[in-house]
Amino acid sequence: MQAAVYTQYGPPSVVSIQNIAQPEPKATEVLIRIHASAVNSGDMRARSLDMPKGFGFIGRLVFGLTGPRKPVLGVELSGVIESVGDKVSAFKPGDKIFAAPEGAMGGHAEFQTLRKDAAIALIPKGCSFETAAVISFGGITALQFLRDKGEIKRGDKVLVNGASGTVGLAAVQLAKHFGAHVSGVCSGRNAQLVRSIGADVVIDYTTADFTEGGARYDLILDAAGTAPWSRARPVLTKTGRLLLVNGSLCDMLCAPFVSRKNGKRLMAGVAMGNAKDLRFLADLVAKGVFTPIIDRTYPLSDIALAHAYVDTGRKKGSVVISVV
Ligand SMILES: NC(=O)c1ccc[n+]([C@@H]2O[C@H](COP(=O)([O-])OP(=O)(O)OC[C@H]3O[C@@H](n4cnc5c(N)ncnc54)[C@H](OP(=O)(O)O)[C@@H]3O)[C@@H](O)[C@H]2O)c1
Repeated sequence: MQAAVYTQYGPPSVVSIQNIAQPEPKATEVLIRIHASAVNSGDMRARSLDMPKGFGFIGRLVFGLTGPRKPVLGVELSGVIESVGDKVSAFKPGDKIFAAPEGAMGGHAEFQTLRKDAAIALIPKGCSFETAAVISFGGITALQFLRDKGEIKRGDKVLVNGASGTVGLAAVQLAKHFGAHVSGVCSGRNAQLVRSIGADVVIDYTTADFTEGGARYDLILDAAGTAPWSRARPVLTKTGRLLLVNGSLCDMLCAPFVSRKNGKRLMAGVAMGNAKDLRFLADLVAKGVFTPIIDRTYPLSDIALAHAYVDTGRKKGSVVISVV
């Protein structure tokens, strides 16, 4: 099968299209014929080892000490179940699914096998393979940070910093779904996009500073890495929470110490895909509550160009890879 393979860490040119062996499903696995995938910030980090501060060595431990352990990137995908192992009953050949392969990766190829209990869900009716492929990365991250760490509730004032990226666009839509009043911070050229997906207020970070102007927030979700505790804390309400999606190792380790009991809190960590949350997101997509935004689509053969575009840090929403 054709796959985008990388055997060393580095710039987009380390990724090339090669013919590799098609995976065989074990008894507890499904074989997926992939239709679409994405190059996202997770792929960029695994390819380049450009990690948040303090995570450099941990990145090597996770992705491979001297070179990539998994040669095919792609942490989100959509496609059709081609075959299933003897012990799989939840899926059958022909099912249209989307998935978050997490550490298994492998979305940038024609086929991938996943465990039957992996983060896999049926594509909602009326949703294309391209859109389904990009539900999980932003959707799961925004959902788990806002709902599980932030304990978002109706009426909360939420600020999303980095609102025009994959995670930010999902966070704005999900925060609105949970009944919050949402402010989105992005550059002026993306203001209309962020407003169009439901933000009540849009702040252009090139001309304004969200920490000035007197507003206070119950939740601040930082997907841009420019709202550390020292900057965000003064504009949190008395029990406000700072959700650092893009936190450093120090943020993660220090979070329990800087957070004041029953007061302002700093939360960092890693979102992990699971089938239940994918089904939750699929339901929101079916209802038109959550619409993953696609910036560009590249064929698998142009994957290095897709990586180069993601490396600019200027994408709006998701960059899709069309495999079929
Ligand atoms: N913890 C986890 O489990 C987890 C999961 C997923 C992602 N992440 C991390 O979350 C971060 C965001 O991911 P993503 O996929 O959403 O990235 P992305 O799609 O590249 O979006 C980043 C956005 O940040 C905006 N931005 C840049 N500078 C800014 C500033 N000074 N103020 C406000 N916005 C600014 C950019 O918009 P403009 O072009 O308008 O500047 C861009 O749209 C990445 O660092 C990723 O590694 C963490």
